Amino acid sequence: MWRKLRDLPSTVIFRHNMANRVKDILNSLDHLNKKAKDYGLQQLAIDQRIFIPSNVETVSFLDDSNIVGRKNDVSKVVDMLVSPQDDRTVSVVPIVGMAGIGKTTSARLVYNDVDVERRFDVRFWVCVSSDFNVKRILREMLEHFKGTSIPQNLNALTAKLKGKIEQAKRGNEQIKYLLVLDDVWNVEQWDELMWCLEGVNKNRGNKVIVTTRIEDVALKVETLPNRRHQPGKLKDEECWSIIQEKARGDSPISPSLVLNGEDIAKQCHGVPLAAKVIGGTMRKIEKSRGAWLKIQKSDVWDSVNSVLRLSFDHLSSPCLKKCFAYCAMFPKDFCFRKEQLIQLWMAEGFLGASKEMMDTGNRYFHELLSNSLFQDVGKDRCGNILTCKMHDMVHDLALSVSKFETLIFQVNSSSSTDEVSHIQHLSIGYDGESLPIILTAVAPKLHSLFSQIDVFKKLSRTFTSLRVLKFSGADYILELPASLGDLKHLRYMDISKTSIKVLPRSITKLYML
Ligand SMILES: Nc1ncnc2c1ncn2[C@@H]1O[C@H](COP(=O)(O)OP(=O)(O)OP(=O)(O)O)[C@@H](O)[C@H]1O
Ligand SMILES: [Mg+2]
Repeated sequence: MWRKLRDLPSTVIFRHNMANRVKDILNSLDHLNKKAKDYGLQQLAIDQRIFIPSNVETVSFLDDSNIVGRKNDVSKVVDMLVSPQDDRTVSVVPIVGMAGIGKTTSARLVYNDVDVERRFDVRFWVCVSSDFNVKRILREMLEHFKGTSIPQNLNALTAKLKGKIEQAKRGNEQIKYLLVLDDVWNVEQWDELMWCLEGVNKNRGNKVIVTTRIEDVALKVETLPNRRHQPGKLKDEECWSIIQEKARGDSPISPSLVLNGEDIAKQCHGVPLAAKVIGGTMRKIEKSRGAWLKIQKSDVWDSVNSVLRLSFDHLSSPCLKKCFAYCAMFPKDFCFRKEQLIQLWMAEGFLGASKEMMDTGNRYFHELLSNSLFQDVGKDRCGNILTCKMHDMVHDLALSVSKFETLIFQVNSSSSTDEVSHIQHLSIGYDGESLPIILTAVAPKLHSLFSQIDVFKKLSRTFTSLRVLKFSGADYILELPASLGDLKHLRYMDISKTSIKVLPRSITKLYML
């Protein structure tokens, strides 16, 4: 028996040993999991799946008959491209903005503009996406010239591209090219690319358009400050026109549905992507009032969210994701004060506990801005950013990624107590019947409470974990309870614009405030 075992091939023995080790590891993980639960640790609400940018290739041709608005946008970018003041060899114009706002579409319109076609002898379109690789970009530029063999080496690629561009000369005095780099997420190899792009044609006036969701990418690539384009929101009626175009199919839309359709269009908040996705779904369903009313509440909005979610997945750290998710506590169209937001993140413990908390907060704020998750910044005279807003659809995204631990209690909110056991952040805008039950269920675990209602009148003493208390704007709250001093963990309290005149004595016990 022993001889038989000894003669077994070593791979079999190895597998047997490995299987035992894997079993041991699994057992110890189970054990750890149990222990974690005993300590009250729980799985994070925020899904931290690895970021994989969409690799849907974009192309340069388009049927622009269905594109609404954007005429001004196109002429603005074309003007930047043909501007005589800019006489560098290669200049770059970024098109930057949030997901689905129409960056690629604007770039396509510019690329196909007759003026642009006339001015540039060769035009290249490269969809970059997550893979910013100089060789790949040059290879794709070279593939534009049909039937060309593609060298592997970077110098050979540059030389070949140079030769091909020279051959493409048309009537223009000096040959010029236009390159669109669509959907750029990182620019680590940017300088290397620019070096090659300057090498492939030494004439002045070559242009590059970069489309990106990321402000920092735009900052890095733009050749002149403010020489960039940010597509704005579409008007509601423009969104409605996109929806109609998609939803129509073979059967026309009855005039009796127009009002419902216009309401749905408003829900797109000026984002053409949303209008297109919703219109596509409406094409497949019955064209009736009932069906269209359902659409306003249906899951199709999730597919719009999933496109936006790429920007969230792309954020660099789990803490930053928490900071973003926390913004769901504020109402839609809220004007965030940068300073206040960073203090709240700090109080929540999202910024760690070191001296650099403020710097980290500033960095996080900048990254959210840079990823177009914040917009509409307000600055002081010196150009320092003071305020910003969130696009409504981005706010929906924040709500959806934070829903495990955040509850916004408003009119029509219906949450049973077992659904709320994991809630840590509660925002109350309405005094509903179920509020006391919910408060009782969530209070001991609650970290932050934003409220327009005097919650202490409904329930006192049990908010033992509270770090943030925000009553601001609740002008009929008259006083704070004497037991306020029991909130040992309280680090941030905002009672601005309330009718509170006196603070309870026990406030002196709040060392963390
Ligand atoms: N003005 C418009 N009229 C009609 N449809 C539009 C318009 N702008 C964009 N679209 C459509 O909306 C969708 C999203 O547009 P686009 O791809 O240009 O957005 P994007 O800003 O490049 O998004 P991403 O950040 O994901 O790259 C596309 O299907 C596009 O055809
Ligand atoms: Mg795009």
